[in-house]
Amino acid sequence: MSNAILTISNLAKYFGANKVLKDINLEVQKGDVISIIGPSGSGKSTFLRCLDLLETPTRGTLSFNDEVYFNINSCKDDFVNYVEYNKALNLYDEELVRTEDEVAIWSNKLIEHKLEVHKLKGEKSNYSVEDFNKKINELKGLKTEYLAKLKDAKKEFKEVRKNPVLKRNFYNENDYKKAIADNPNIMVDSKTINHIRSKVVMVFQSFNLFNNMNVLENCIIAQTKVLKRKYEDAKEIAIKHLTSVNMQDRMNYRISELSGGQKQRVAIARALCMDPEIILFDEPTSALDPEMVGEVLDVMKNLAKTGLTMIVVTHEMGFAKDVSNKVIFMENGYIVEQGLPNQVFVNPKEERTKEFLKRYIQNGITEVK
Ligand SMILES: Nc1ncnc2c1ncn2[C@@H]1O[C@H](COP(=O)(O)OP(=O)(O)O)[C@@H](O)[C@H]1O
Ligand SMILES: [Mg+2]
Repeated sequence: MSNAILTISNLAKYFGANKVLKDINLEVQKGDVISIIGPSGSGKSTFLRCLDLLETPTRGTLSFNDEVYFNINSCKDDFVNYVEYNKALNLYDEELVRTEDEVAIWSNKLIEHKLEVHKLKGEKSNYSVEDFNKKINELKGLKTEYLAKLKDAKKEFKEVRKNPVLKRNFYNENDYKKAIADNPNIMVDSKTINHIRSKVVMVFQSFNLFNNMNVLENCIIAQTKVLKRKYEDAKEIAIKHLTSVNMQDRMNYRISELSGGQKQRVAIARALCMDPEIILFDEPTSALDPEMVGEVLDVMKNLAKTGLTMIVVTHEMGFAKDVSNKVIFMENGYIVEQGLPNQVFVNPKEERTKEFLKRYIQNGITEVK
């Protein structure tokens, strides 16, 4: 038993050959406010989405309060020999270019040949009949040769294209079956997924609110549908949380009548209505006009003070530095570095972290995108 609220071991997520998360290991303690920073495309969103099973991880173990809710020890992609596969792909690409070039070369030769015949015919008067016929016959011979070469080149190009490199040819099924037999996998059912999503709630960059409902209804619906709360109870809870994000005056507004900052505050209130144990924030202020970033960050700062466990993917380095107790720098599907905010921002250990932080520090660690 550990004190971790969320334990992530050997998490991997592959989209085909694109290994977006390679091997993520992390323990989240109750009350942690963790900021995740890193360049675009490094896998930050995919990581959060895996925790909530909005993406099914390719491999890994996820536990919530010491209960395993997802476990896949072995995945087929781990038994694809990607070194050989990528080598074969490169060779294939080279072959494709080479054979296509060959087709072009012989096609061009034929065009040049045609011009030559034309030129010779134009200069016929310069030659004796005998010489002219000899030259014409030579050119005819060349044409036959070029045509044969072109035919071969086209055939070869077609052959190459007919045999693309397939991943399954580099996949060792026996090893995979053996690994599965040694370590049976746990697949999750929809009940578990719903439970996890009500305890580990996501706040999205683009709000994901229901535009056809008003503010209050947005905060009630999941309570009645997922948590099976009575409508009146759900309403009371919704009002409480909308008040806590200072949206009590807008409860009957439609979502389209709100500013970006207000929408995000409603999304946060909606998340709070689920009585979450963890809120995952995926760049909650990135879609906002600059003047609205502050109001959302203020709400998040207050939440952090209540002891709520938060994982925040953000470009707001000021927030990461001042509010979180741990900063994680992710790149290329790995956690490159993690530590206390002061350590990561002031004294990063890894070269990659230093390089990433450079452009923010040059701008005074504020709201730089
Ligand atoms: N559903 C998907 N299908 C295929 N590729 C995806 C999918 N979601 C994300 N990716 C790829 O995963 C990589 C990491 O994306 P993401 O997790 O959004 O990074 P970040 O949030 O750090 O910018 C990108 O190369 C992206 O194209
Ligand atoms: Mg993202």
